[in-house]
Amino acid sequence: MSSTAVPIILDCDPGHDDAIAILLALGSPSIDLLGVTTTFGNCSLADATRNALQVLTLGGATHVPVGQGASGPLAGTAELGNYVHGVSGLDGPAMPAPACDVDERGAVQLMADLLSGSAVPVTLVATGPITNVAALIQDRPDVLPRVREIVFMGGSTERGNHSPYAEFNTYSDPEALEVVLSAGLPVTMVGLNLTHQALATPDVVAAMRALPHEVGRIASEWMGFFGSSYSRVWNFDAPPVHDPCAVFQLIEPEAVRCVDAFVAVETAGTWTRGATAVDLFHRWGRDANARVAVELDVESYWSTVLAALDVVGGA
Ligand code: RIB
Ligand code: CA
Repeated sequence: MSSTAVPIILDCDPGHDDAIAILLALGSPSIDLLGVTTTFGNCSLADATRNALQVLTLGGATHVPVGQGASGPLAGTAELGNYVHGVSGLDGPAMPAPACDVDERGAVQLMADLLSGSAVPVTLVATGPITNVAALIQDRPDVLPRVREIVFMGGSTERGNHSPYAEFNTYSDPEALEVVLSAGLPVTMVGLNLTHQALATPDVVAAMRALPHEVGRIASEWMGFFGSSYSRVWNFDAPPVHDPCAVFQLIEPEAVRCVDAFVAVETAGTWTRGATAVDLFHRWGRDANARVAVELDVESYWSTVLAALDVVGGA
């Protein structure tokens, strides 16, 4: 880890792409992973938490604290993503048994303690339903000055995935995203319009598989399962690996072009609940409340992800 590494807390719902995001954070010298917090989303909270512990074990990072968070949204009921990620939430290759356990503090308390204890402000990276981050904002305003920014994978400047107009994470808890977008904190949105550029093509999966260690093999097999789901549900030729894009944006900011825009999230729409309305052309005349990622340097993304996987696997 470099002396200028960005300290982050990764709030996630592993989930195949969350798992790659965790390994990217562990393997990049530009990131200091202070902690992981878990949420419902791709699977139940319990499964997401077990999966996070297994991925950290795989990554040789059992020292990273894991705080268990929300089992459901602020309002409404959870619709889980097992239809994409499988019964376990991380189906495909067998995983090592967790060699670590959850921190006795829950997600919000762990986030607050890590924020308070850091010498420099900390970036919150959310790659699942953003419920835990909203709870931190609501319950712990005292620590918010320690937040450098919030980077979330979610929403879209275009159409959705879980529903025709709503991306899964924002669909899962639109009220939570509304809390985040109105908190006055620096926010970067990494939506489907960006992450659909991050396709794990056969060449990418082959490069993962060619890495000379278990991490490369497991990552390639995760892509196999994830890819089969994306082919079955959305007819993709290759799966978009969403969540690492949020971490990558911190590693190589110049490789992710962003624009400032006003972003709103629909909470009352009959057919559009969870949709993000991104005012790219300032039609509503409202001040921007987010940076919105719009263009990915795909070659840099995959070379960075593969390099990080090799660091973790070869450690
Ligand atoms: O829509 C993609 C997002 O939903 C990703 O974070 C994926 O892991 C799922 O949580
Ligand atoms: Ca996720």
